[in-house]
Amino acid sequence: MKDCVVLVTGAAGGVGKEVIRQLAENDAKIIATDIADQVHDLNREFSGARITTITGDVSKSVDVDKIFGAGEDKFGAVQALISNAGYMIAKALHETSEQDWDAVLAGNAKSFFLTAKRALPNMLAAKKGSITATGSISSVVGLPSQAAYCASKGAVLQLVRQLAVEYAGSGVRVNAVGPGAINTPFLTRYLNGLPDPKAGADAVKAAHPMKRWAEPDEVAKALVFLASDDAAFITGHILMVDGGYVAG
Ligand SMILES: NC(=O)c1ccc[n+]([C@@H]2O[C@H](COP(=O)([O-])OP(=O)(O)OC[C@H]3O[C@@H](n4cnc5c(N)ncnc54)[C@H](O)[C@@H]3O)[C@@H](O)[C@H]2O)c1
Repeated sequence: MKDCVVLVTGAAGGVGKEVIRQLAENDAKIIATDIADQVHDLNREFSGARITTITGDVSKSVDVDKIFGAGEDKFGAVQALISNAGYMIAKALHETSEQDWDAVLAGNAKSFFLTAKRALPNMLAAKKGSITATGSISSVVGLPSQAAYCASKGAVLQLVRQLAVEYAGSGVRVNAVGPGAINTPFLTRYLNGLPDPKAGADAVKAAHPMKRWAEPDEVAKALVFLASDDAAFITGHILMVDGGYVAG
């Protein structure tokens, strides 16, 4: 990824920060964005890297334009997009409000649509680019209490496949990573919403054949691999990083 201009969404989160760490080690030009102001802390943490940090909501086109514009001013056209921002409201469908549905679909599916759409014209002009999304085991299996989340992550995977086919002849690859549970604030929030978080944590680990959850760097490695030229003949793929979850 040396000198590659990479835009990473959800960069302040557990997985996002590990992606930034690996991109910095690879001497990429990093555009790190998140809705949370903590994204600016990355400047201090990765002070030796070529990085610019921008806040914004990637489910809003006006913010997506602002983020890409500022990133392009700094480093030039985005060559690799890692669409990693994600949001979950854990509810069964009969408990899911219209607002819940819209928020989760916007946070996961619309944000991928908007950032991929904004990244594509420059990639098509360059006849080269990679778009990599963070999906989930919820992209491919149904999970209890994740009605809107499963629908949104399923949409991400289907858009990955559609884009891969649409742009395969134009030099743009599109892939997803499908993590099981990951040790990040996202998982902590989910567990803390359960009646018994400790029992919930044990159950989540037990559901994975490897009887643990992922550390964020394990997921980040898969995202960076798919985004890089090492994956030059891979497109339309979802790389599961799930300790065997969907194999069972
Ligand atoms: N943690 C898990 O167990 C798990 C499992 C499978 C998939 N995932 C997916 O992994 C990805 C990374 O999540 P994480 O585990 O690092 O969680 P996290 O909560 O630590 O990080 C997610 C980041 O996305 C940002 N974000 C959310 N909505 C945004 C928006 N509209 N605009 C800009 N930024 C936004 C948040 O501020 C946060 O910093 C997400 O797509 C998530 O759905 C997580």
